[in-house]
Amino acid sequence: MPLSLNSALDDLGLSGIRRFSSLAAQTPGCVSLALGEPCEETPPNVRARVGEDLDRGLTHYPPNNGFAWLREAICAWEAERGVRLSPDSVIVTDGATEALFCAITALLNPGDEVIVPTPAFLLYGSLVRLARGVPVALDTTASDFQIDPQALARSVTPRTKAIVVTSPNNPTGCVLGRRSMDAVAEAARTRGLYVICDDVYGELCYEPGHRRFPALYPELADRTVVANSLSKPWAMTGWRLGWVGAGERVAAAMAKVHQYAVSSVPAFLQHAAVEALATNTAPMRASYQARRDLTTEALARMGLPTVTPRGAFYAFPSIEGLGVASGEFCERAIREAGVALVPGACFGGEGHVRLSYAADEGTLATGLERLAGFVGALRG
Ligand SMILES: Cc1ncc(COP(=O)(O)O)c(C=O)c1O
Repeated sequence: MPLSLNSALDDLGLSGIRRFSSLAAQTPGCVSLALGEPCEETPPNVRARVGEDLDRGLTHYPPNNGFAWLREAICAWEAERGVRLSPDSVIVTDGATEALFCAITALLNPGDEVIVPTPAFLLYGSLVRLARGVPVALDTTASDFQIDPQALARSVTPRTKAIVVTSPNNPTGCVLGRRSMDAVAEAARTRGLYVICDDVYGELCYEPGHRRFPALYPELADRTVVANSLSKPWAMTGWRLGWVGAGERVAAAMAKVHQYAVSSVPAFLQHAAVEALATNTAPMRASYQARRDLTTEALARMGLPTVTPRGAFYAFPSIEGLGVASGEFCERAIREAGVALVPGACFGGEGHVRLSYAADEGTLATGLERLAGFVGALRG
């Protein structure tokens, strides 16, 4: 008999996103609109900083939570966006993935429930399960991916510990409106919940004047956790750099998790992170907005109902009228039309598919054309 393993891992599948992008990679000529991976390069000024720091010998253990000058730069950057964090309560992490791991591990006791508005990025549910908590899906499909205050109130139980807010959202591209945000704030205030804000797409929002949850409700700072990262707005997915910030008590608990899990992020990347924060993200945002427009116009011509994405780089059209489940749709789209998307089912959003328009314009145009052909063929 084999020796036992941690049973919290038993139900955790491998990422469906990775599965479909590997299938695409193995299919000759397939165009992939599956991965949330910017096609741009990291800005040259950011890349140049790493060489300088390696030459200077910045190659020894850095402080666990990151150099003070980086944490100060992060707080200054967040303050410009109305988010107040103290450098002593910020931890530089291995991307938002580790930021969320630190948050969920630090907050949860076994059996604690975390409300996850769905469709959602699959990481949250998996991290909650790893921490022996219980993810509770709050389906937002019927309300155009906004949070319905009554539905949220009904999801809260005496075991609810936290709610996740992701705006702009992966996979829907939707930005939560004030009614949704107020509903979360009200639940946090009156039912004593933490709010875990996954703000990785906060910079990639096309709504002028958009403010993130932590900026809207500074009075909830003691129960708000901010996870953020350099991955998307500066095309730095491979650098594995992000941060997590919270009130003093929560930050101290997260720092323990961070210290025991990864110790610290590479010393010679940290000046480059400061350089990135000083680099304007507007051109990247404008370029995504143009690709968003191309995408939504093409989906409309295909007759696939889509809630207009207002940020990130995803569209989440409904395929409900086509009579196939999202998994079958995506497998057949790869095989029969040479275009890869991700099934909505991977995000708790059956009846939809996720299309990433982070690809370059040429690839995107080809992918949309092939998708149109495939949808046409399905309709007969
Ligand atoms: C909503 C969301 N959160 C977190 C992450 C992880 O980001 P990072 O690369 O910073 O770990 C992603 C990556 O796709 C994401 O879409």
